[in-house]
Amino acid sequence: MSQSAPEPFHTSPSRPAPPPGVLHVWLWQVSDSPLSEDEILSLSAAEQQRANRFRVARHRALWVRSHTGTREILAGYLGISSAQVRFRKNAHGKPSLDAVPATTGALAFNLSHSEAWCGLVIACDAEVGLDIQVPHPIDPHLWRRVLTPSEHQEMNALPRSEQDAAFFRDWTRKEALGKAEGRGVYPHLRRTTTGLAPFTGLFPVDAENGDGAILRWHLQDLPSTPGLFGAVASSRPAKVELRHLTFRA
Ligand SMILES: CC(C)(COP(=O)(O)OP(=O)(O)OC[C@H]1O[C@@H](n2cnc3c(N)ncnc32)[C@H](O)[C@@H]1OP(=O)(O)O)[C@@H](O)C(=O)NCCC(=O)NCCS
Repeated sequence: MSQSAPEPFHTSPSRPAPPPGVLHVWLWQVSDSPLSEDEILSLSAAEQQRANRFRVARHRALWVRSHTGTREILAGYLGISSAQVRFRKNAHGKPSLDAVPATTGALAFNLSHSEAWCGLVIACDAEVGLDIQVPHPIDPHLWRRVLTPSEHQEMNALPRSEQDAAFFRDWTRKEALGKAEGRGVYPHLRRTTTGLAPFTGLFPVDAENGDGAILRWHLQDLPSTPGLFGAVASSRPAKVELRHLTFRA
């Protein structure tokens, strides 16, 4: 459906919003097959412009379908059509919902994609950030740009066979934190210690927000998903409910 063909809001969301203290994390995989015109036209003008900037058709297909899927999921919570979902962005590019129907409360969300995987976290009472990564071999030179001195020591003590997994745990936590704040990962590289061992629960992090205020965030690893690392950050303690999804695309 084209963005230029507005239709009235439905009144009944087909997906109940997560209750306070719960984060819905949706995970799905998208196809890189050639895009149809309808898929592209279902996005906003800004999204279509962004899609057109991809030079590699496979990357464009994965990106477009991460957005059509995100719209479809959010539309279900809002009781509107995918084309009616509107976004605004903060100064660092973090999207949030704009102009939601009065019948639904505010929802925070954050999208992440890695290869064909997409992840979307939804919350009703917290700011949130999500990062997912399909692992690949890591050049140890990258450790210096990401880890704090204590994390570097922790890394050096690990057997080589465990180091890449440790790196992805650390990287996704720092990305999730920066995405929850809305500033991105860079303020946390070499500065914020999350450790490398798997978390057994919530991990609190106090971080300066760039304006001198210290805010507390709650980090957690995503429940184990084969072939994927992931972490979520939230401004309140919350429990993750994982939802796997199969899209036709
Ligand atoms: C933007 C950033 C958070 C994206 O992280 P990433 O691991 O590459 O990608 P992810 O798939 O996890 O997340 C991308 C999604 O996060 C969201 N996003 C974009 N900017 C964001 C921000 N500042 N905070 C939170 N979320 C953001 C968008 O939905 C984006 O999806 P889209 O590109 O399809 O619109 C990360 O690159 C970063 O920290 N950037 C800082 C800004 C910067 O200097 N970027 C230069 C990159 S070299």
